[in-house]
Amino acid sequence: MSNHHAWIQSFARTKGKPLSNRQKQLLADLLPQITANKALFFDDNLLAQMEIGFGDGKHLTNQALSQPDTCFIGCEPFVNGIAKLLSSMDRLKISNIKVFVGDCRAFISEIPDNRMSCVYILFPDPWPKKRHHKRRLLQKGFLTLIWRVLAPGGSIRFASDNKDYAQEVFDFMNSDSMFQTSNQSLDLCIYPQNPWSPIITKYEEKARFSESDCFFIEALKVCP
Ligand SMILES: C[S@@+](CC[C@H](N)C(=O)[O-])C[C@H]1O[C@@H](n2cnc3c(N)ncnc32)[C@H](O)[C@@H]1O
Repeated sequence: MSNHHAWIQSFARTKGKPLSNRQKQLLADLLPQITANKALFFDDNLLAQMEIGFGDGKHLTNQALSQPDTCFIGCEPFVNGIAKLLSSMDRLKISNIKVFVGDCRAFISEIPDNRMSCVYILFPDPWPKKRHHKRRLLQKGFLTLIWRVLAPGGSIRFASDNKDYAQEVFDFMNSDSMFQTSNQSLDLCIYPQNPWSPIITKYEEKARFSESDCFFIEALKVCP
């Protein structure tokens, strides 16, 4: 997992519709000022939270606004999503978010041990066809990467409306002594709304619209 060239791509695309001039300007001016890199962790006291695959950034900006003293790191390869996040940060004067553009696995390998209090992964690409399951981001090796950067007492918060993916993740989490899920079974992870935030992300909205169950799995880091 340490060689990112060996990673199987977990995202569908990095670009969508053409960007507006304002978005282009924010990418050129604001993004370099808030780009996440390992220098962030030169401050030994920094205990950050991270959102992987933040999409349009709605959940991330809400978390950052409600916890202004916490540093949030967002990882996302989709440029249009990053541009939307930058517009919100600019409009709402948010200064406690750093952004990593690209595959989160490249950034996670730069983070020292025990430096995240919470890692959010909300509605990651489900890759529903069996032949694409290898593209799913949450695999056993990925959870080991997350385990290393979580601080003692830290947790991973994962949501999906794909039952098969959710079951796979729930089982990975419970298959060794690295994590402990807050709920005893997957059925207890079905919630009528996100238990961690008042925000409904774009993909949760799609799932609710199609009346799919949404699974919210929280797992605490277990230290040996
Ligand atoms: C289905 S979308 C969900 C977006 C948002 N979380 C939501 O709930 O609306 C999945 C997102 O994860 C991003 N993603 C996929 N693989 C990733 C990776 N390896 N690192 C960071 N982001 C990734 C994709 O670019 C996409 O924006």
